[in-house]
Amino acid sequence: MSKEAFAKSVKKGLSSKSKHLSSRYFYDDKGSQLFKKIMGLDEYYLTGAEYEILSQQAADIHKQSPFQNHFNIVELGAGDGKKTIEYLRYLVSSDINFTYIPIDISQEANDMLIDNVERSLGKIDIKPMTGDYFDMLDSLKQNNRPNMVLFLGSNIGNYSMDDASQLLGNISSSLSKGDTVLIGVDLQKNPNIIAKAYNDAKGITRAFNLNLLERINRELGGNFNMEYWDFYSFYNPKNGEVNSFLISLKTQEVWIEELKMNFQFQNNEVIYTELSRKYTENEIKTLCTSNGLDVIRFFKDKKEYFTDVLLQKK
Ligand code: TRP
Repeated sequence: MSKEAFAKSVKKGLSSKSKHLSSRYFYDDKGSQLFKKIMGLDEYYLTGAEYEILSQQAADIHKQSPFQNHFNIVELGAGDGKKTIEYLRYLVSSDINFTYIPIDISQEANDMLIDNVERSLGKIDIKPMTGDYFDMLDSLKQNNRPNMVLFLGSNIGNYSMDDASQLLGNISSSLSKGDTVLIGVDLQKNPNIIAKAYNDAKGITRAFNLNLLERINRELGGNFNMEYWDFYSFYNPKNGEVNSFLISLKTQEVWIEELKMNFQFQNNEVIYTELSRKYTENEIKTLCTSNGLDVIRFFKDKKEYFTDVLLQKK
């Protein structure tokens, strides 16, 4: 991602009346390392829950799929592939013929992923695509094999309901009738459990959020003094939303060299960083059905914290 785009986004977010910073800039080298640590925390149950589903229920998921052999598995944003590999492992061990097509905007992300997949499963048929999700999905329409699209990791939770619906609509319209989608969604549960997942005791989530400001310092010549910033997140069970913020601990002014601009922050003023929405099964059903995707089945971990939903294009 370019420095110009980052600078532009920071300028817009910090100039608006209710300040915000885009969560897509969380993941520089340091941020990605911190997120890896978050995924390993006991409190952050999401990763472990989805890993359990894909490693223990792969056979069930495959059995429920309308096509059993000779298909594509198209993945949107696979990350390190750790969870996906568990599903693919089952297919490989059952001698099922498939092509794995991971799509990512980052070439490096794809290279690392291929490495991980081949280290775990040996040589399998992988055809990575680098580019925009929807451009790439559209280009698969030419292909006459059925597609199973993976959209894992509760990524959908980082969109507002309206945006999530639009995203599903886009995925749906680039599929052919009969294609399937397996989408990871975090479920509503005891609010205390959710609250802890987004504000862990070791302060890794705090550091992960504060890194946004440090990244502005590093890449855009900002002079945020980290002593005067804190982190706050809360879960509201009335609407299923976790909202995360940075808090200014005093009235202060911050210079950003790249923008040649000063930004004022009031004491206790917040910068909004991310939405992580949790769903009920009914909400998921409505969201998917209204976008032309029928629910085949909800697969859940034993604690029923998380679901991978198998959908089929009508
Ligand atoms: N996308 C992840 C999520 O919503 C990232 C994340 C984990 C996160 N912990 C966070 C984002 C805390 C903001 C604040 O689960």
